[in-house]
Amino acid sequence: MLITIPELLSKSEVAAFRAELDKAQWIDGKATAGEQSGAVKRNQQIAEGSPLANKLGDMVLDALARKETFVSASLPLKIFPPLFNRYQGGEHFGTHVDNAIRIVPGTPVRVRTDLSMTIFLSEPEEYDGGVLVIEDNYGTQEVKLPAGDIVLYPSTSLHHVTPVTRGARVASFFWLQSMVRDDGERTLLFDLDSSIRALASEYGTNDPEVVRLSGIYHNLLRRWADT
Ligand code: NI
Repeated sequence: MLITIPELLSKSEVAAFRAELDKAQWIDGKATAGEQSGAVKRNQQIAEGSPLANKLGDMVLDALARKETFVSASLPLKIFPPLFNRYQGGEHFGTHVDNAIRIVPGTPVRVRTDLSMTIFLSEPEEYDGGVLVIEDNYGTQEVKLPAGDIVLYPSTSLHHVTPVTRGARVASFFWLQSMVRDDGERTLLFDLDSSIRALASEYGTNDPEVVRLSGIYHNLLRRWADT
């Protein structure tokens, strides 16, 4: 399921990211692409593992950990260190599927990519084009969000980014391995958790039916999760 979450980053946090990124050194985005995706990828990135990518990546990880909706929707087991990209002057990324396995640079850690994420760091009015187009089970979805918002989508999806014909589209992107590999099971858990939170706010966390539903949530998670 495709999920968008508003305001992962506040506007002042976005401004702090942009102050660093707008004066940074950018390299060819093919550096992290596989063979097929490399052939259709035209953009720029901050070098993987550079001090700036590490610093800003850690700030993204802090923001993710604070956002309950993100944790509930993704159930993260391993998060690949966030990267940063920029499209301008007609740059785009043709149709591809993200690599299934990513090795965290400089470590033996392998991350199976269950979910792909983009955090928008440019406001939609700053650029033309740059739409993230995702083909999922329910058809084609077009995503272009306010700065600070995040989209999560199954890494199994074919997707592309349309050419940026004015201005610049700056974003953070990364992948994660979820405790729950199956997208359908993960979606059920997210829906159940969202309903339990709504019921708990109306009837209290110790309402007997809220307690019973919380038990069902945890017993499903116990059944489906890898740790
Ligand atoms: Ni991709």
